[in-house]
Amino acid sequence: MKLPRHLAIIMDGNGRWAKDRRHSRVYGHLRGAKIAKTVIEDCARRKIPFLTLFAFSTENWFRPLEEVAFLMHLLQRQLRRETQTLMKNDIRFQYIGDLERLPPEVRAVVLETVETTADNKGMVLTFALSYGGRQEITAMARELVRQVKNGLLEEEDVDEALVSGLLASSFLPDPDLIIRTSGESRLSNFFLWQSAYSEIEFEAKPWPDFEVNDLERILTAFSQRERRFGRTSEQALRP
Ligand code: FPP
Repeated sequence: MKLPRHLAIIMDGNGRWAKDRRHSRVYGHLRGAKIAKTVIEDCARRKIPFLTLFAFSTENWFRPLEEVAFLMHLLQRQLRRETQTLMKNDIRFQYIGDLERLPPEVRAVVLETVETTADNKGMVLTFALSYGGRQEITAMARELVRQVKNGLLEEEDVDEALVSGLLASSFLPDPDLIIRTSGESRLSNFFLWQSAYSEIEFEAKPWPDFEVNDLERILTAFSQRERRFGRTSEQALRP
């Protein structure tokens, strides 16, 4: 089966899933974290080279304080608990996003996990944390201006490869497949530049109900799609 080199997932629907069961929203996040663990292990087993999970967006800071605090605590706890799972599966952990906005103790665990797993050679697992595509592009534009001002770059040097290289995600290939759960058909500020030619799969199930069988189904459909990158069928099929 032809697998995506880079799979990215917008794990949506935790809150609604919990509400439908008359539970608090955080109950949905707890279950969501369990699902994330299962999916991470499954992707590593399938030898997907890059997996990115949208764990917390720049907009998520506007949620009720208790929910934000719970998500931060959950992130810290899961990373601590699961470092051994990452090591066992040879997974290298990375992040994209504005780490400065995270509480210091959470930031510390994120950086520790990056360091501990730095020599692992298997799947690269990236958490998008306090991440927003527009913010990422804005930071890139600032860096570009800075480099031009300092005489490190000329206008003619600016091309797509240069822009990609100045984004926080520069260590990742563009995502081949983006999955968003919970029936919402939008990207919500995720990978705006990188998603130019991504296949996008909108899955009806909320994230807490997502199963490895669903991933299998989506990956099978992906492997059968023809990706033309703006070319004709004949051109795209040529090796
Ligand atoms: C979207 O559901 C989910 C989030 C904002 C957070 C994602 C976090 C997790 C899956 C748990 C933590 C993950 C890890 C890997 C430690 P929502 O709250 O937007 O749901 P709603 O749209 O129904 O409100």
